[in-house]
Order: sequence, then structure tokens, then C-alpha cells
Amino acid sequence: MKKNIDKYKLPKHLAIIMDGNGRWAEKKGLKRILGHTNGVDSVKEIVEEVLNLGIPYLTLYAFSTDNWNRPKKEIGTLMNLLIKSLRSEFEKLLENNIRLNAIGDISALPKSVQNEINHVSEKTKNNTKLVLTIALSYGAREELENAIKNILREVKNNTISMEKVDQSIINKHLYTRNLPDVDLLIRTSGEKRISNFLLWQIAYAELYFTKVYWPDFRKKELHNALFNYQNRERRFGKTSKQINI
Ligand code: FPP
Repeated sequence: MKKNIDKYKLPKHLAIIMDGNGRWAEKKGLKRILGHTNGVDSVKEIVEEVLNLGIPYLTLYAFSTDNWNRPKKEIGTLMNLLIKSLRSEFEKLLENNIRLNAIGDISALPKSVQNEINHVSEKTKNNTKLVLTIALSYGAREELENAIKNILREVKNNTISMEKVDQSIINKHLYTRNLPDVDLLIRTSGEKRISNFLLWQIAYAELYFTKVYWPDFRKKELHNALFNYQNRERRFGKTSKQINI
């Protein structure tokens, strides 16, 4: 069956938990690092296709706060891959009107990674076709904890009154303050968990889980996910009849 993507029913904000690099490599008898390098190829292909389709926001979970517990060597490899990818893809981001945005505790990353991120974010900040957000040293609970602390501080300083604290104020204190809510969240590798990713922002998101490991998640797999998304009815608490008027 041919799956045609309806360009008018695309998610505005697509978020992806890229999982399974290690298992992909182990299954092939390769070192885990090769799973990550092939994972970078998937990132490139998916960004390209998201851009072609015209989805304006893509957020990728590249490194969680929990990933700091991995062996030092693997963390080093991932950080080096990040720097290398940011350098090699920089021109492409500029040419294709893509804005790079990083969320998470960026100050916890090695200085060399921070410098690269700051450089690319600054140079692409006026780009408008796609906002490519990379979550690094990211944890949703940490994000919420920070937001709450900052709001409390502002209440204490009388910059804002407690009565004014609502969902829009909370949104403005999250790392994702400039992004819309997530419409579709994809997780690869067969795990059916959220793993501390964008807990607030996925309140109404459609969830899509696939057994495919991230290095094998390419254009065709993305189309499958989008096709599946487009055949769901998003009701936001309303009845089906109300939606279909
Ligand atoms: C999950 O696989 C993947 C990661 C923790 C890292 C994802 C990073 C990349 C794809 C490369 C860098 C990213 C960018 C944006 C250039 P896993 O290692 O958890 O796999 P496993 O669960 O099978 O062990």
C-alpha cells in the first residue's frame, strides 16, 4: 500500500527519542561507537526530510542527564561526534535556513562543545525554515525544577504576583519557551518509555513507538510514522462529532 503524506496535516512540532544505537551495533557484532556514527547519518537524513516536508520544528533527544552515568569513554565519543557534526553540518544549516537551538543544562557540557553550540546557534539565529532543537544534558524534571525556582524567585522579588502564575508563565520559564507544544513524539528501538523527555510539552502529543533501531530509522520510517499520525483523530478532550463538524 502506498502511503501518501498529506502536506496539510503534518505535525508542527516533531520530537524524537533516538534510541538503539548501541543495540544496532551489538547485533551486527560492531563496537557501540559505530552505532552512534550511523545514528548521525540518520539524524542527517531525517533533518533533510523534515525540511523537505516543511515541518517547522524538530527536537532530538541526543543526551539525557542520565546519560552522564555511561562509561567516560562513550561520553567522550558522543561529545566528539557532536562537535564534529556541528562543524561539518554548519554550512548546510546556513544554506537551508535552519536554526540550531540547544536545550538542557548546556553549562554541564565540555567547554569545547559549549563553544561550538554557541557559535552555531548565534550564526543561525535568524534562520526561519526549521528550528532544529537538540536536547543535551536534558532532563524534563530538572527543567521543571528550574522553572519553579525561577518563578518563585520572581514572586519573592515582586516581579510577578502569585495570581499571575499560570500555564503561559510556566511555559515562558522552560527551555522550550520559544517552541510550540509537541504534536508527535517518536521513540525508536522498541522501548515504550518517555525517559524524562519534554514531560510538560507532550501533554497532548501523539506517541509513536517503533522497533526499528535509530541507525535504521530513515526517510521511509519517518513516512510510516507520519502516515500513522495523520490517520489518528486528535480530539483534545472533545467528541469525535465536534471535531468533524
Ligand atoms: C541512543 O542509543 C542514542 C544516544 C544516547 C545518543 C544519540 C546521539 C546521536 C545519534 C549522535 C549525535 C547527535 C547529533 C544530534 C549529531 P543508545 O546508545 O542508548 O542505544 P542502546 O539503548 O541500544 O544502548
